Parts: sequence; structure tokens; C-alpha cells
Amino acid sequence: MPLYHIWTIGCQMNKAESERLCSLFEQIGYQPAASIEEADLIILNSCVIRQSAENKVVSKIGTLKSLKKNNPGLKIALTGCLVDPDTDRLQKRFPVVDYFFKAGGMPPWIDKRLTANIIPSKPAVSTFINIIQGCNNFCSYCIVPYRRGREKSRTVDEIVCEAKTLVERGAKELILVGQNVDSYGNDLPDKPDLAALLEDINKIDGLKRLRFLTNHPKDMSDRLIDAIATLDKVCEEINLPAQAGDDQILNAMRRGYTSAQYRNLVKRIRARVPDIAISTDIIVGFPGETEEQFKASVDLLKELRFDNTHIAAYSARTGTIASREYKDNVPPEVKKERVAIVEKLQGEIAAEINAGMLDKTVEVLVEGKKQGKWHGRSRRGKLVFFNNKNDLLGQVVKIKIEKASSWSLQGSLVDM
Ligand code: 5AD
Ligand code: SF4
Repeated sequence: MPLYHIWTIGCQMNKAESERLCSLFEQIGYQPAASIEEADLIILNSCVIRQSAENKVVSKIGTLKSLKKNNPGLKIALTGCLVDPDTDRLQKRFPVVDYFFKAGGMPPWIDKRLTANIIPSKPAVSTFINIIQGCNNFCSYCIVPYRRGREKSRTVDEIVCEAKTLVERGAKELILVGQNVDSYGNDLPDKPDLAALLEDINKIDGLKRLRFLTNHPKDMSDRLIDAIATLDKVCEEINLPAQAGDDQILNAMRRGYTSAQYRNLVKRIRARVPDIAISTDIIVGFPGETEEQFKASVDLLKELRFDNTHIAAYSARTGTIASREYKDNVPPEVKKERVAIVEKLQGEIAAEINAGMLDKTVEVLVEGKKQGKWHGRSRRGKLVFFNNKNDLLGQVVKIKIEKASSWSLQGSLVDM
């Protein structure tokens, strides 16, 4: 039997697509290789959101040359956001790669009928479903719309049918993913929205939890906030990237909102869904960002106290509006310093929020076991570890929190 190996970096979208590729290969008779060295087929699912991610992919490709020498039958395919339409240029840049296919696409050498609708036969307890591809926003710094194309929603029927199958096959939690899930349905004839989709999926028997990411502050609707508040399976957790706290920077980023509008939205969400966990993304060192403008981001984080902040130093990406219009003029050491300041602040905020969980009991969906400890997430997305000798995989259990850090919680099972 031929063996395959998939290497993935980047966002949840890439992870979702890699899960689908695994099931595709298993359906056509491949087995997972124990290590990359043993594989007959290697798929690299790449990311180019920042230069650092691209560098990792390029160095990974570099390590594959020697594998090909030892195994001349080895085939290598590259997918993900490094793949642009100019495959001739890619082929020259990476002669070791045999096939290129675009992010979210399917291997070109496999019959299209087989790739039409692949659903994992053994999904994880918590499984991703891609609901919308691409992005129409063209935030000035972002390469994604150029690599993943324009927004394209899957139909409600297709998604609900897939969700049902995943639940029948063992999934307990579904995470709906898209670059901007708030745009879901805009391109479909009867214009369903994410709130309507959540309502349909919420009805599936056996499903325990439902999440979605990522939202866009300019598009998040009151209907969606209501859906989070009222649908029992929809968890109290959202990812709402702010990107910056200064209006001039937000404008140059082409985000379509002011910091006051962002603050307002967060307040509205918190008023309607008390205790909701909100995480955000912040870019520091955007072209021209002054100390004062950076401080506006810090103030936003101090004021709104997010559960988590994904922080990134600005990285110029060829082809984006920002890389054409602005000079990447914040020195690397200043970017590094700003990253460190935000990391420290967010670590402190998260530690305080999590310390507030001590002695409280939370419902945890058990996702797996690591080094003898069960782990899972609370409805608010907090990672919780606990000890127990029974097989609790896929169950929702009550855990009393005894220890808290910035990144995770520990506790013990409460008698049910
Ligand atoms: N430089 C730095 N961070 C970026 N992101 C997107 N593009 C860039 C870039 N050029 C960040 C944004 C986005 C997250 C997925 O990655 O914060 O929300
Ligand atoms: Fe990139 Fe903006 Fe689209 Fe997100 S919304 S994928 S940051 S262009």
C-alpha cells in the first residue's frame, strides 16, 4: 500500500483542508506514513501570511531533495497560499515539487468525481467544516484574497448534510471556518446568513457544540449576536480581529471601521452574551506606526481585556496594497519590542481572567489524552487538563478548576 504524509502550517482553514486531503488519500488506498521519510507521496500545505511562515515552507521544501534521491518514486505536491496562478515560475523556483494546486483545491492527478465530497470516516471529536472560501476585503496588508480568490460560499444543504454525516461518524463539536464567516451566503441566490446556518446545524441530534471563526468587525450582525445568545449548542466564544487601535492606521489597513465602532461592537456583544470569551488579532509595526499609534493598540487591549490576542509584527507581502503604497519603515527591533510589550500585557490579562475561574466548575468536552492527562475545552474555549482513569473521550464532563495560568486550566472531575 502506498504511504502519504501531509505537512501543514498556517490557519484553521489549512488545517481543515489537510483533514479533507487525509480522508481523500485514505479513500483511494493510501495509508499514513509513520514518518515523512517513508512516504511515497508528500503534500505540503503552505502559508505565506508573513515572511516568517513563507521561510519555513521554503526551508521545508529544501529538505525534501535528499528524500527524492533515496526514493526516486516519491511524488511531492505543494498546496496552500504559497501557490499562485503562475505555476511555471513556481516550478522553476521549486524543481523538486511535482504538482502544484491552489489553496482549497484538490490534487490535479485525482479523478474529480472522487474529490467532489470527501468527508472523514473517523472525524476528531472537534472537527472543522469549511463554509466559505476566499475573501473580498483586501485589507491592505493581506495576501489572502490574492491566493484564495473571491468569496465563495458552500450551500446550506451541502454544509448541513456534511455536518450530519460528521456527527453520525463521531464528531461532537463542529467549528465552521472561513476567512470572513460574516460574509457567508452573500454570494448565494437566496442569501442565507451565518445565523440561519447555525440555526439549522444546531438542530442536529448528537451534536454537542458549535463554534465558528473568523468574524470581521465591519460585518458582524445583530442577528449573529442573537444566535450566539439563544442557540444552545453555539458556544460563547468569538474571534474578532481588531488589528489596531488607531483610526489612521485602521484606515490605512482598509479595515472599514474606527476604533470607537470596534469598542461599541464589543460592548454590544458583551451586553447580549455576558461572559463571552473574545479573542483578537493585532498587527504591530504597520508602515508609519508611531509610538502613540502603537499605544492606541495597547490602550484598546487594556480597556477591552480580551481572553487571547494573536499578535503579529507587520510583514510586507509582495502584491498587497500596503507593500505598494507604504514603506515598511518601522525598524525590526522596534517591531520586536512592540510584540514583547503586547505579549506581556496579554499574558497578564489572560492570567487574571483565568485566575477568576478558580474554584468554579466548567463543562469540558473531552478531546483527547496527552501525557496521561485528559484535555478538552470549556464552552468559552479555555483549554482544561484533568486526570481520570475512565475513557471519557467525546463526553462533556464537569471539571472544578484548581489551577490556572495564562494558557490553560487544570482541575478535577466533579461527580456527575
Ligand atoms: N503582516 C503581519 N500580520 C498579518 N496578518 C495578516 N497579514 C499580515 C501581514 N502582512 C495577520 C492579521 C490576521 C492574521 C491571520 O494574520 O492579524 O488577522
Ligand atoms: Fe485578509 Fe482582511 Fe480578508 Fe482577513 S478579512 S483574510 S485580514 S483581507
